[in-house]
Amino acid sequence: MQAAEFIRNGGIVAFPTETVYGLGASVFNEAAVEKIFEAKGRPSDNPLITHIYSRDQMASLATDVTPSAAALIEAFMPGPLTVVLAKAPDVPSIATAGLRTIGIRMPGSSLAREFLRRCNVPVSAPSANLSGRPSPTTWNAVAEDLDGRIDCILQGDRTEIGLESTVVNCTGGTPVLLRQGAISIEELRAVVPDIQVVDATSDLTVHSPGLRHKHYSPKARISITDDPGSIQSGKHEAYIGISPPGGAPELVRLCGEVRQYARSLFEFFRECDRAGITTIYCEAVDEAGLGAALMDRLRRASEG
Ligand code: TXA
Ligand code: MG
Repeated sequence: MQAAEFIRNGGIVAFPTETVYGLGASVFNEAAVEKIFEAKGRPSDNPLITHIYSRDQMASLATDVTPSAAALIEAFMPGPLTVVLAKAPDVPSIATAGLRTIGIRMPGSSLAREFLRRCNVPVSAPSANLSGRPSPTTWNAVAEDLDGRIDCILQGDRTEIGLESTVVNCTGGTPVLLRQGAISIEELRAVVPDIQVVDATSDLTVHSPGLRHKHYSPKARISITDDPGSIQSGKHEAYIGISPPGGAPELVRLCGEVRQYARSLFEFFRECDRAGITTIYCEAVDEAGLGAALMDRLRRASEG
């Protein structure tokens, strides 16, 4: 596989996972990791997640797999979960933006696993978008942002989940949910009952800079609505949700259920940008399961 060869030779490669496309480099190649920050225009204080295909690779990345981490790994890896652990000394500090912790994830999709197996080295990868843009869920979206700035795009299908992984800090006594994702808080608590949800004032937010940075934003203004039927939408406006909208938006994406809504969201944001949409109305959903992650992304986009 040519994509893996680029990684082994110090290149940077976009590849699909079940969440979103990532932009990868060998975690042990500082110059290659540096290229990721450059290609994305990513602030250097925002740490990268390192991707593995087998649990054996954890030993080279993390020093201490805490009991809560071990339980979460057993339950949810491979899958859309990132665990934050104490970083092993051999991992260059650029990959974790100088933090003494490291986010580790084992994607579940078969193409990602095949790619990571052939790379034969852990792969640091943020989402494969320009910094501040919505994460890419298709290889075309990667090309739209990064064509000419990266060595290769491993072209797979549209990603299955469409939102980024759940991130849990497992370094302290009580694990802390740093970013909502497809593994919901309900599912996490079924395995580790005392898990906490990060609050904006905690030190952990400082240590997960991605939570502070502007994120997931299309150019258009995002307006979250509980009552789509009542909106007066028209020209240059768009709507995405489950129930039908009022008015006559220029672009409409009706989704069958929350899963489809989450899967379609970021690509719809990009479609709206291409069409010059100025306002995107988004239907609010129930904050249970995947709905919590979807609402988190909608809120961040509306703040953008
Ligand atoms: O689903 C995903 O997680 C995708 C795919 C490609 O795996 N990756 C992704 O990476 O979304 P990125 O860089 O766009 O988001 C990673 C998030 C950021 O908010 C970052 O601050 C946080 O994870 N993070 C990474 N390492 C961390 C660490 N050591 N401590 C705390 N937060 C960390
Ligand atoms: Mg990202």
